[in-house]
Amino acid sequence: METTLAIIKPDAYKNGHAGKIIDRIIEEGFIINHMKQLLLSKKKAEGFYEVHKDRPFFGELVDFMSSGNCVVLSLKRENAVSKWREVIGATNPEEADKGTIRDLYGTDTGNNAVHGSDSSENGIIESNYFFKE
Ligand code: CMP
Repeated sequence: METTLAIIKPDAYKNGHAGKIIDRIIEEGFIINHMKQLLLSKKKAEGFYEVHKDRPFFGELVDFMSSGNCVVLSLKRENAVSKWREVIGATNPEEADKGTIRDLYGTDTGNNAVHGSDSSENGIIESNYFFKE
C-alpha cells in the first residue's frame, strides 16, 4: 500500500468541516495510519512548504497555515496519492470537479480546505515530517 499525507487546513477546520472530511477519507477506503490536531508554528509551516519558498504566495501560505488548527493525517491505501488527489480535486476550488472536497469546502486557491501529497516519494517524506518520532 502507498502512503499519502492529508492536511485539513485552518479554513476547513474553522468552518466545522473536519469531521465530514474524516468521514469521507474512511468512505473512500483509506486507512488512517496516524492523525493529530495541531496549530502549526510559522517555522513548521515554512519547513513543510519549503519547495514553494521562492513563490510570491509563500508568505501568505505560511501565515494561513499557521493561523488556526489543522488536522494532519497519514493515510494508506492502494494508489493513495492519486486517489486522494482525485477525492480532493483541483488546487483552485473553482476548477475542482463537483463533489470533490475542495469543491464542497474550499473558497479559493489559498483557502482550499485540504492538502494532498503530489507523489509517492513525497507522501513518505511529508508523513515523516509530522509523524516520525
Ligand atoms: P497545497 O496542495 O497545500 O500545496 C501548496 C499550496 O500553495 C496549495 O495547496 C495552495 O493552497 C497554495 N497556493 C498555490 N498557488 C497559490 C497562489 N497562487 N496563491 C496562494 N496560494 C497558493
